[in-house]
Amino acid sequence: MMGFFGRLFSKILAKAEPALSDAQPRDAAAIAALHAASFRRGWSDQEVEGLLIDRSVIAQRALIGRAFAGFIMSRVAADEAEILSVAVARSQQGRGLARQLLNLHLRRLAGLGVRTVFLEVDEHNTPAIKLYGRAGFREVSRRANYYPLAGGKTAAALVLRRDIG
Ligand SMILES: CC(C)(COP(=O)(O)OP(=O)(O)OC[C@H]1O[C@@H](n2cnc3c(N)ncnc32)[C@H](O)[C@@H]1OP(=O)(O)O)[C@@H](O)C(=O)NCCC(=O)NCCS
Repeated sequence: MMGFFGRLFSKILAKAEPALSDAQPRDAAAIAALHAASFRRGWSDQEVEGLLIDRSVIAQRALIGRAFAGFIMSRVAADEAEILSVAVARSQQGRGLARQLLNLHLRRLAGLGVRTVFLEVDEHNTPAIKLYGRAGFREVSRRANYYPLAGGKTAAALVLRRDIG
């Protein structure tokens, strides 16, 4: 059970300002753990490490104190990029961290000469749809029956696009 100092420390950490920076291969395990907690299909540590050392992949992370609080990752091909994943630790959600990560990420992509950014999002993922809508992404197509759901149901993927740079 968490004692007084543990609870105090958690409260202090929860209020601490996040520090955003480029993700490194040594972040692979933390990213894999957060990805697994956030999505139905997890990524192994090895898969994430492979992505982080791939020169066409760029990623940023957010730390709060020493705690890993979020990441965002894209693959770049010529002047286009696809956002592969973004996730924020549950305890840190709803305080603008994904928005900060996305803003930094889009600046980094623009700096690399990217002009157009795409991504796929589950039609029912309200926080993500709000996040991208506010950042200027617009729906360009819809892939029906794309994500498998429990009970044999499916959800569509919305393909979103934003021009940058
Ligand atoms: C999507 C996700 C990254 C957002 O992270 P976050 O740090 O909580 O997002 P922000 O605080 O920057 O808020 C972004 C928007 O989502 C809204 N939002 C956040 N949590 C929400 C919730 N539980 N329900 C509804 N809207 C929510 C915020 O209000 C904000 O919208 P607004 O600007 O209109 O107010 C986070 O929910 C997450 O990690 N989800 C699991 C992984 C995932 O689905 N990733 C996206 C895949 S495409």
